[in-house]
Order: sequence, then C-alpha cells, then structure tokens
Amino acid sequence: MTAAAFGKSDFIVVANRLPVDVEKAPDGTLTWKEAPGGLVTALKPILSARNGAWVGWPGAPDVGREPVEGADMLLVPVKLSAQEVEEHYEGFSNGSLWPLYHDVIVKPEYHREWWNTYVEVNRRFAEETAKVAAEGATVWVQDYQLQLVPKMLRMLRPDVKIGFFLHIPFPPVELFMQMPWRREIIEGILGADLVGFHLPGGAQNFLYLASKLAGYPTSKGSIGVRSKFGVVTVGFRSVRVGAFPISIESAELAATAKLPETRQRARALRTELGNPEKILLGVDRLDYTKGIDVRLRAIGELYKEGRLDPERHVFVQLATPSRERVESYKMMRDDIERQVGRINGDFGRVGSPAIHYVHRPVPRRELLAFFAAADVMLVTPLRDGMNLVAKEYIACRNDSSGALVLSEFTGAAAELRQAYLCNPHDLEGVKNAIDEAAHQEPEDGKRRMRTMRRQVLQYDVDRWARSFLQTLAGTVDETPA
Ligand code: ADP
Ligand code: G6P
Repeated sequence: MTAAAFGKSDFIVVANRLPVDVEKAPDGTLTWKEAPGGLVTALKPILSARNGAWVGWPGAPDVGREPVEGADMLLVPVKLSAQEVEEHYEGFSNGSLWPLYHDVIVKPEYHREWWNTYVEVNRRFAEETAKVAAEGATVWVQDYQLQLVPKMLRMLRPDVKIGFFLHIPFPPVELFMQMPWRREIIEGILGADLVGFHLPGGAQNFLYLASKLAGYPTSKGSIGVRSKFGVVTVGFRSVRVGAFPISIESAELAATAKLPETRQRARALRTELGNPEKILLGVDRLDYTKGIDVRLRAIGELYKEGRLDPERHVFVQLATPSRERVESYKMMRDDIERQVGRINGDFGRVGSPAIHYVHRPVPRRELLAFFAAADVMLVTPLRDGMNLVAKEYIACRNDSSGALVLSEFTGAAAELRQAYLCNPHDLEGVKNAIDEAAHQEPEDGKRRMRTMRRQVLQYDVDRWARSFLQTLAGTVDETPA
C-alpha cells in the first residue's frame, strides 16, 4: 500500500469485482480497461467528489498490485490466488450462495473448504478496506460474495459508517435455513448500519432471520419501498433494513438510442436479419436463472403451432459467457445450444435461421441498437433480483413502440406492471404472453410502454444510489421517495 493511499478515502465501494477489467498479455504485462457499468456511473460523481476508492478483485487469479489512480477514483485491487478464485468465487459464491438465493433452481453444494476460503477472502477485503478508509469514512459493501465484510470491517474500524446492498434476491426463510453457516452470514451482514435489498419481501425475510437465528429484537411493521425501514437492535447499535430497487442510467441510454448512428445501425440489423415483420430479442448472461431454456421451448412450440411464423418472426438470443468453469453453467450451455440447433433444424432455412444465437458479449453501442430494433423483448428468468435488461430495453424505446414480456419472478416485475407478465414455470402462460406481445395493437402497446418509460426514467440509478446513501447518512426523512 502506497503511503499516499493509506487512510485517505472518505467514500469506499467494496465489490467482488473492480470496475475495470485486467488483461494479461502472454508476456505477463497487464493492461487495465475501464469497464463502467451502471453502478460505477452512478457512484463516479460521489467517488470523485469525496476522495473515493473502489476495493475489488481484478477478475483474474494472482493479479493485484498497489492501489492505482484511475477513472476518477482510487482502485484498490485485492489479489486472489487461483485456489481462492476456485473456492471463494466459483465455489462458495457461485456454487453455494447463488443457487441457494435463486430458489435452488440448481442444487447448491456446501463444502467446508469453500466456506473457509469465503471467510478468508472476506477478511482480506475487510483488511484492504480498513487500510484505505479515512477516519469516519462511508463504506458501501456490495453483494453476496462479501456478506461477512460488514462485521469484519466494523471490528477493525468501528469509526466508519457501513452500508450493505444485496443485488440478488434474498431467499425465503425455509430455503435460507439450508445454509450450514446461516447464523454467521446473518451476523456478518448485521455489521452494517444499513442493509438494502431490491424488494420489501427480501428485507422482511432478513428481518425475520435476524430475530430467529441471531436472537436480536426487530421492529414489527412492514417494510416499504425506500420508506418504512425495519430496525434490528444489535447491542447498542440499530441496524436499519430497507428496500431500494436498483435501476439504470435511463436518460443516458435513451439519448444514445436516439442518436442517428444508433438508429441507422438498428435499421441495418433488421436488414441483416432479412427484414422480418417482428424481431424478438433475448439478452442475458448465460445463466440458468435467466430462463433462456423456457423462452426457447415457448418459441419452438409457437412456431410448431403456427402462432409465430419463422419467416416473419425472428428470434435473436445474445448470451454473454459467464462463470464458465462452474459445472452447472457448462451443462446449461450444452442444453441451450442443443435446443437452438433443434429449433433451427425444424424451422430454419439455409441462410435464414429461425433463431440467431450469439455466445459472446456484444459491445454496448451494438446492444443499444439491438434494443432499438427489437419489437418484442423476452425476459423470462426463473428468479432474478432485479433484471436491468428489462429496464434498458424500455429506456431505448423512445417512440414508445415495442413490447416487453417479463417474468413475474424478477424484481423488475414489481415496478413494470404494464409488461406482458408471465409465470416462467407455466409454459402455456409464457407462450400466450409472447403471442399477445407479438400481436399487440399498436395503441395498446404504446400506452403500456409510455407508463413503463415514465417509471424507468424517473427512478434511475442515481436516484437509487442517493436514496440508499442518504438513508445511510441519516439525512433522509422516511416518507416514500
Ligand atoms: P445480471 O446482473 O444477473 O447479469 P442484469 O440484467 O441485471 O443481470 O444485468 C446484466 C447487464 O449485463 C446489463 O447491463 C446488460 O445489458 C448486460 N448484458 C447482458 N447480456 C449481455 C450481452 N449478451 N452482451 C452485452 N451485454 C450484456
Ligand atoms: C450479478 C451479481 C454481480 C456479478 C454479476 C456478474 O449481477 O449480482 O455481483 O458481478 O452478476 O457476474 P460475475 O460472476 O461475472 O461477476
């Protein structure tokens, strides 16, 4: 740690990943590429105004160096060995917690070695954070990979203010009770001063467990959205618990989608796809929670029944590779690619497949052109904390055309009630929703889209960050935002 970085930062974000990607050349040299997502963009002004730092893993094993100045903030890399990546990231985070918190769609595995490494890695994140934090700093810890950091950091640095936000669903109590280290996790999170979830339901589940597993007194009233916070009394401290649904940089996306070059690219995409009547689109990390298999099955049956016509209704699935060393992800990729192959074999023609499938990340600008081109967006997760793709699509629909098919099992469904909502476990229901969306009356579609756009443009990611941080600072009144 350079002396310059030590104890200087007033505002620190701690997340499993740094907001930059590191690339290692064959000769071992490292290059850092800025990879700003919505979170970075929302926090950048706060980070630069307040001597901000971001503590995180650079995304590759055995990479880490002194803190570096970058992107208007201090980047503090946490070095993890290959074994730590395997046991903390691939193991406990994505083999135990991710499936457990997503309704056990895949069976979670519990291994003591994974847990021990999770504890170790959380400790390292807490230690690095403790080193860079100025006296009385605000520290915002993000997501399921770091649930023990709040308590560990409080022990090292009782002077700092700590927020914790969970970006994935907090599971029903009955499922959480499977976790062998359930009490340790609840106690870890309760090291924070404010604990945030996307939905009041998750916050309520957490409040119940704080009482049941850790024996702390808790408030009894029901939790609202950005309002009516729950309280857990931990010794002399009060921990507040609330719901803060995350969002996107809505105005920025809308403006980029409106640019002549984006619209031109959207028209070119339609031509490249053979000028179909309707473009249906799916955009996801290749993850078993996203219900890509559900929408493929639904589309295959709709083609077969003649309710969609592969000549007129083309489906594009953009699937970015994710967690490729985790076994359940490998199996799912094979399944999906088999399904795509079968549907194209049954319904495609040479030179004009029914389904266009891309297993690569798509550059941001190109992605926005896809959103601008798509007539129907398919978002069908079996479980998703929020789902930003749904909001991104809406932000890009400047003329209020288009339709969103949205699983009820996403956080976004609580806000986007005018979508074509469906239960992803009910195949006929999903088919009907896609059919209706593909054949909607334009005026009805516009009415739906206008209402959803108002929601997404009003509640953007900046508002999310501000409502959380003001609550953490205690400068917000507790009426709905
Ligand atoms: P999750 O956080 O589980 O991946 P979200 O929908 O909340 O799901 O966020 C995913 C983010 O990644 C969005 O900003 C989305 O635009 C981006 N993304 C998803 N799939 C792709 C893809 N195939 N290519 C490029 N970006 C993608
Ligand atoms: C979800 C999680 C994030 C995670 C992201 C990408 O959004 O909530 O914490 O960073 O997926 O997953 P990855 O495993 O590539 O970091």
